[in-house]
Amino acid sequence: MAARKPLIAGNWKMFGRQSSLSEIKALWGAIAPAAEAVEALICPPAVYVGQAVWQARGTQISIGAQDCSAVGDDSARTGEISAAMLADAGAKYVIVGHSERRSQHGEPDALVRRKAEAALAAGLIPIICVGETQVERADGRASAVVGAQVRSSVPDGNAAIVVAYEPVWAIGGASTPTVAEIAEIHGLVRATLVAKFGEGASGVRILYGGSVSPKNAAEVFSAEGVDGALVGRASLKAADFAAIILGHPAAK
Ligand code: 13P
Repeated sequence: MAARKPLIAGNWKMFGRQSSLSEIKALWGAIAPAAEAVEALICPPAVYVGQAVWQARGTQISIGAQDCSAVGDDSARTGEISAAMLADAGAKYVIVGHSERRSQHGEPDALVRRKAEAALAAGLIPIICVGETQVERADGRASAVVGAQVRSSVPDGNAAIVVAYEPVWAIGGASTPTVAEIAEIHGLVRATLVAKFGEGASGVRILYGGSVSPKNAAEVFSAEGVDGALVGRASLKAADFAAIILGHPAAK
């Protein structure tokens, strides 16, 4: 199996201002010694991506975006931002299919897949998000739902992707799945990717997201099959995000 460098990504969502970008330099000050072992990524709001790239120059912190258009070609689409524009601004990754986009903007798997395809065509690495709701888990359908999302949201033929398992009920709250529950779904995602890509799936990193904090990071990282994390609230402050990154066993 190919070695996978852990990826710890911060999703700033619709938080922060220009002044928040100084957190990037502060983060680097704390995590630089671990940079060879763990990849750190910050995904600020799109309007700040270019400035974030500028802040991150001279560091090994990667910058990404939180969404992109499913349309690759330059065209008349007021308010849309293409993957090519994000790449041009210096982004390396783009999150697609986050549960907030799926629920608040009605984005189905087919659209998520087209966004991932647009990202790949622009040379970006899509971070494709999947995850079950509380009701789906209570009904015993978590594996079926997540498996179907992976099959339908992940493009065929190009394994240069990251998958993030974010149980919807664990986002923005206080509760997380148990280590065994995380490991079970990560195993299922891996098996689904192997069915899609064969050998090529071995390089795909599968992140866990949903209420990761400095307190529970070590436990989350101990779950089998977890290649890193997608962090919301706790990525906004350099001190918290650094504590999570430095809490990864590879960073020790
Ligand atoms: P929280 O870490 O704030 O729960 O958010 C998780 C998330 O949605 C990251 O994409």
